[in-house]
This record gives sequence, C-alpha cells and structure tokens, in this order.
Amino acid sequence: MPRRHSWAEPYKIKMVEHLRMTTRAEREEAIREAGFNTFLLRSEDVYIDLLTDSGTSAMSDRQWAGLMMGDEAYAGSRNFYNLEAAVRRFYGYRHVIPTHQGRGAEHILSIMCIKPGDFVPGNMYFTTTKAHQELAGATFVDVIIDEAHDPQSDLPFKGNVDLRKLEALIKRVGAGRIPYLCLQTNVNMAGGQPISLENLKATCDLCHRHGIRVMMDATRAVENAYFIRMREKGQSHRTIADILLDMCSHTDGCTNSAKKDSLVNIGGWLAVNDDDLADKARNLVVVYEGLHTYGGLAGRDMEAMAIGIEESVQLDHIRARIGQVEYLGNALVRAGVPIVRPIGGHGIFVDAARFLPHIPREEFPAQALAAALYVQSGVRAMERGAVSAGRHHDTGENLFPKLELIRLTIPRRVYTQAHMDVTAEAVIDLYEQAENIVGLRFTFEPKHLRFFQARFEPVVGARVLRTETIDEPVAVGAMGDGI
Ligand code: F0G
Repeated sequence: MPRRHSWAEPYKIKMVEHLRMTTRAEREEAIREAGFNTFLLRSEDVYIDLLTDSGTSAMSDRQWAGLMMGDEAYAGSRNFYNLEAAVRRFYGYRHVIPTHQGRGAEHILSIMCIKPGDFVPGNMYFTTTKAHQELAGATFVDVIIDEAHDPQSDLPFKGNVDLRKLEALIKRVGAGRIPYLCLQTNVNMAGGQPISLENLKATCDLCHRHGIRVMMDATRAVENAYFIRMREKGQSHRTIADILLDMCSHTDGCTNSAKKDSLVNIGGWLAVNDDDLADKARNLVVVYEGLHTYGGLAGRDMEAMAIGIEESVQLDHIRARIGQVEYLGNALVRAGVPIVRPIGGHGIFVDAARFLPHIPREEFPAQALAAALYVQSGVRAMERGAVSAGRHHDTGENLFPKLELIRLTIPRRVYTQAHMDVTAEAVIDLYEQAENIVGLRFTFEPKHLRFFQARFEPVVGARVLRTETIDEPVAVGAMGDGI
C-alpha cells in the first residue's frame, strides 16, 4: 500500500445545513447596517462563517444522542458526574465546577483570588480573561516571549513564557501581590501558538518556588498537546491524552471554554486541586451561574461536553482539525499573503498591517479588512488588533498592540476543503486589490470589550471597498429563488 501523505476527515456527513448566498449589493447593505463590524452581521447573511471556532463545532451523532440522555434534575444530575469523570480522566483535576462558558469560570476565579492592586501575569492577554482580572482590581502583565508579537518569527513555540520577564515582575511587585499566573495554551491572540511542555514545566516550577499558583486557560489545550507531539523533542511517541494530562499535572487548576476543544456549542468549567479553593468556587458559582452541579448548563449540555472531551483527544480528530487549518494557511502562503507564522491551531491570522500598509493604525486596518472581505466574498472573519485591545484602563488611551490581525477561524468538523479553497481565493483576490480598502473610524464605542458591539464608518466615502467588481451571487437562496 502506498504511504498516505494527506489526511482526510475522520467522519462522514449525516445531515447538512443549507447556506444562503448573497449578492455584493446585499452584502454592502448588510455591512453598513452592521456598522462595519462583522460581529453585528446576521449569520444568515454570511456564506462561510470564520468569525470564531467558539461554540461553532459540529457535534457527533454520539453527542446528539447524549443530549437525549439529559438528566434535568436541579441538583446532582447524572450528567454532571459524567462530566466530572471526563475532566478528571483527561485533565486530571480533582474538583470540577461547571459554568455556562469560559468567561463564567474566569469570573469566579478572578473574584475569588484577586485583591485590588494585584498583578496577574499571563502569556499574552485574552480579551475576556483580562477584562475579568481588571474588573476584580488587578493589572494584567504580559510575560510572553517577544517573538510572539512578531508575526514573521517562525519559532515552533511562540506561546512560551519569558521566564526573565516573569522573574522581573516577581522581583518588582513581590509574590504576595501575584495571586496566580494565567497560563494560556495555544495562545489565541498570538495566532493560536503553542507553549512547549518544557516551558510550561519551567514556568510552573518558577511560580511554585515563589508560592504563586498557576491556573491554566485550557481552552485550546488539546490543540496545544498536538503541537507538543508534532514539534517537541521526545514527544512524538505519546498519545494526545497522555500529553494533555502531563500538561495539566504541573498546574493548580484551569478555566476552560468547552466551546472550543471540547466540541460543544455551549459550556465551560473551572477546575482546581485545592480543597479550600474548590469550596470557595462552589459557593460563588451558586451566586453567579447556578448550583455547583450545573453551573448555568442544562444536564444535556454537560453530557454532550463529557462525550466531546473524549472525542477531542483522538489523534485522527485533532490531526484532521489542524490539518484543515494548515491547508488554508498554505494556500495563502503560496500566494504571498502575509499571515502569522507558523500556522496556528485554530485559524489563520492575516497580518492586516502588512496587507494594508496605506491604512494608519488609527484607522483600524484589521477592522477594515474584515469588513472588506465580507463585502467581497461573504466570508466572515474577526478583527484581532487595536479594536480588540481596547483602551488603557488608567489613561484611557487607545492601545495599539504590535499585532494587527484578522482571524479566519475554522470551526471544528463543519466546513470542507472546498470551503477552504473558496476562502483562500477570496483573500488572495482581495490582496490583489488591497489599495481599494478604506480605513474606518468609530461612530459608537462601548465601554467593555468594545470589539463586540462597536460601530464604525469609512473615513472617506460610504464604502469600505471601493471597487466595482462584476457581481455574481455566490449562489441562490437555498430553497427559494432557484426553484
Ligand atoms: N480563553 C480563551 C483563550 C478564549 O479564546 C476564549 C474565548 C475564552 C477564554 C472565553 O471563553 O467565550 O466560552 O466565554 N474565545 C472566543 C474566540 C470568544 O472567538 O476566540 P467563552
């Protein structure tokens, strides 16, 4: 038998969901109504939805069957115990507290551990994580290696912690003002870049020597485990489950958004090993989420999550998942489109600063690129640059992070390789006419996590993409006009 070089999806399709296709004129109208913010588009106006990999996975037939096994008792649902067993088995933590999604866990962790004036170091910020830390009175301190902020550096583990930065912080503020370090896996804002097992262990050792807890953001820990297997010396013989357990075993607990790795549409959890901390968390979760055996979820959601966790660590699954992201990334690289290297785990991050050198940072090139891509093709991406970074919490100045990106995020088990081809063509086509994209300015700016709900207008004219392309509807309405 010839050796197999390519991967293929380790599943077949049992049910399909029709997509509505639109004309360019319809998309221009839709993006204007959405204030040039792809978060405010209606999903039915989107052709290929690469806004996020969060809650957008296709569940398996086993997970759908699991929904029917929901035990909707208020307290002590059977599904909670299944979830608890799955987290214990695959992540290894002793206490598991379900929450409605990742930020529910971040909220509980932040208010239970942070005192006003504290500092929380992390390997790059994530929007909701940092917002909860700041709302609880802490200052976030970025201790990721410098290369993570450089889209062109192709180090294999750009999610690593810079131990010298961490040591300098401990020296400057004292360990007593650092309640925990937040250790992100497959660092989202850096482009889905992993942390090595070696660096993870060294970071945990350093923190523990100073009595500082390490709380992992395990949201994409399975994808990180895959990169450890593929890229780290001496790890290629291990199973994903084995590496995942190893990663978690060095940390004191985790927050998790199960909407990513764990293949469900809603859900999350907080897990800790410490008994006292667990008691505190169980008490707080009742106030903010729901009883500690459901945490804002239905029993059926917890069952789907328990099954999803087990499916997520299968090598065939994770290889195809990341293989699909690489397939899209390689098509863009071949065409010379500037993207963050190396290709990350959950999406392709296009370098908007290099894509649109004519748009100054103050006119939000990544926001403009996401809007223009939608107008051009019906593909929905997400801004990950200055709009996401927000303002400095003391000075109120706009933050301009080094990375000004759009993210083409790939939902798990949802799109085919042909969808990836169409997406690549759309981005390449836009790159060839990039000078026609116009910068944006705010017309409405919310106080918290502004990228979700902000509205914009073009700095000149009324359109974000100033070209007259001949318009072919991407297709006709699924069940309507074509008949
Ligand atoms: N941590 C990371 C690294 C995340 O990517 C997210 C969510 C969260 C925490 C919060 O989890 O959404 O369940 O409350 N990321 C989504 C995204 C929103 O599109 O990247 P949540």
